[in-house]
Amino acid sequence: MINISHTKRRILLYSILTLSLSLSAGNAAAKVSGVCGNCHTMHNSQDGVPALHSGDGAGWADDGTFNQGEASETPASYLLISDCVGCHSSTSADKTIIQLGENRIPIVFNTVQYPSKALAGGNFYNVSRGVDYDGYGHNVYGISEHDSKLTTAPGNNRCGNANSCHNTLAVAPSAQNDYRGSCQGCHYNVYHHKDSNAYRFLNSHDEQFGAYVEGVEHASWEYPDDTTSTEHNFYKGVDRNDIGQGGTLELKQTQSISSYCAGCHNTFHSINGVGIDTWLRHPTEIVLPETGEYVQYNPVTNYELQSPVAWIDPATPQRDEAIVMCLSCHRVHGSEYPDILRWDYSKMIANDAGDEAGNGCFVCHATKD
Ligand code: HEC
Ligand code: HEC
Ligand code: HEC
Ligand code: HEC
Ligand code: HEC
Ligand code: HEC
Repeated sequence: MINISHTKRRILLYSILTLSLSLSAGNAAAKVSGVCGNCHTMHNSQDGVPALHSGDGAGWADDGTFNQGEASETPASYLLISDCVGCHSSTSADKTIIQLGENRIPIVFNTVQYPSKALAGGNFYNVSRGVDYDGYGHNVYGISEHDSKLTTAPGNNRCGNANSCHNTLAVAPSAQNDYRGSCQGCHYNVYHHKDSNAYRFLNSHDEQFGAYVEGVEHASWEYPDDTTSTEHNFYKGVDRNDIGQGGTLELKQTQSISSYCAGCHNTFHSINGVGIDTWLRHPTEIVLPETGEYVQYNPVTNYELQSPVAWIDPATPQRDEAIVMCLSCHRVHGSEYPDILRWDYSKMIANDAGDEAGNGCFVCHATKD
């Protein structure tokens, strides 16, 4: 039996009562509960031995105990028993939700294998395996070295500073990266004790000016046993043709998930492309057409977790407001495939009698198989 927080129970009740998708955009219920000592240590000492652990080997075991990794004298923020990577890791092969008291901890890094039940963002396991797997995930500090091929985020035209989060997430937090980097290069401000507006704590140093993502969060982070075609995350997107050539796709204005990726991959998402029909990059922030080969994919009734879409209003998904986004093809943390894709690109073969019909690119491009 899965334990849910009061907030989530209230939301569950509310959604049952209204018999609708009542989780309005921005209703991000991530509040933790329970005994402080589960997560905090007041003096970094328990029975005389250090209580703060991080680094190689730190993470939750199958039975819910914390495998200690290395004792650490470097403070984790807020007197926590471990850092972001440690508390969101599991040393078990397959557990991606760990029960801790009243909380369920979503696991993003299984240290021994790629789990069969990875959560929505995927899993960092592959990118932890060394240079041959650099392309399988975001290289973040505490999990892997800097990518051996990519000296900056591809498409980044923002920040000159070589250590900035826009260039690398794989260096230690320092003045060069606002003391962020690693997980907090992306989850810039975290709110474990509040219900924040930001979808999954996705925000930036301009959060106060509106730079955060909107969306509707699936309560179990798309844990495979808990999803049907109607129960999943709902991401925010925009229609670039509504915004127009003079407008902007900056996160502060759109709150869209693709604008968020563009925080570091800006040129992959530029506004150029409104009113033209020759694309330099695969389109994003456009409505999925309802004609031609796209007619067979109706994500309102038949949402595909393997090639999802965003919505102009994530709380009231409409077929004519389904938006192609970065996560239509990519996961974010890491995946089982190069380029952090959701499926194996080498298996997408045009006009082929193989078994990939309806998969990957063919979810949308149905007639190319
Ligand atoms: C001591 C354990 C612990 C530490 C350390 C920790 N977290 Fe969490 N985190 C949790 C728990 C528990 C939840 C689940 C809360 C809930 O019920 O939604 C969570 C949830 C999250 C979520 C998902 C929020 C959502 O909307 O579902 C993100 C993102 C996250 N943490 C990022 C971080 C980052 C970044 C750090 C480092 C600054 C961090 N966490 C440190 C325990 C921890
Ligand atoms: C399930 C894990 C968990 C439990 C239980 C927990 N905390 Fe936290 N707490 C965190 C995490 C993770 C942070 C990291 C920063 C953030 O998200 O605000 C945090 C941050 C804080 C902060 C600093 C940020 C803020 O919001 O003010 C304080 C103070 C705090 N906790 C106090 C407590 C107290 C007191 C208790 C017990 C009544 C408690 N916590 C129980 C995980 C937990
Ligand atoms: C805070 C900065 C930042 C954000 C935000 C960000 N990325 Fe990245 N991304 C990077 C950096 C740095 C690299 C190059 C190093 C690496 O591979 O981790 C990268 C690399 C990649 C790669 C290539 C991986 C490889 O090694 O070949 C993909 C694909 C990618 N990002 C997709 C995304 C998507 C999709 C989003 C939004 C959900 C996103 N990124 C958001 C910084 C970012
Ligand atoms: C490149 C940006 C980026 C980095 C780096 C990153 N995250 Fe995330 N994270 C995201 C995005 C985007 C989502 C939402 C995924 C979705 O809903 O499809 C997410 C979701 C999550 C969740 C919810 C579970 C899930 O899979 O949806 C947790 C927990 C989390 N992140 C923790 C972490 C921790 C811990 C780290 C560092 C080890 C980290 N993240 C590094 C962008 C990032
Ligand atoms: C239609 C599917 C699709 C969409 C949508 C998509 N990508 Fe990609 N992306 C790919 C594929 C496939 C690759 C592998 C190489 C190639 O063919 O370009 C890739 C490669 C990348 C790379 C690695 C480039 C390199 O130099 O190694 C990054 C970074 C990236 N994508 C980011 C993004 C961002 C950011 C968005 C949203 C603005 C996005 N992608 C939208 C399919 C997609
Ligand atoms: C979520 C749906 C979706 C997925 C998944 C998707 N596409 Fe697309 N793709 C589109 C849409 C929508 C268009 C633009 C249709 C239009 O307006 O003519 C497009 C256009 C294209 C174009 C033509 C661009 C142009 O200039 O007209 C190519 C080539 C393409 N996609 C290749 C791919 C490949 C390869 C993959 C898999 C890596 C892929 N797409 C995955 C929705 C998708």
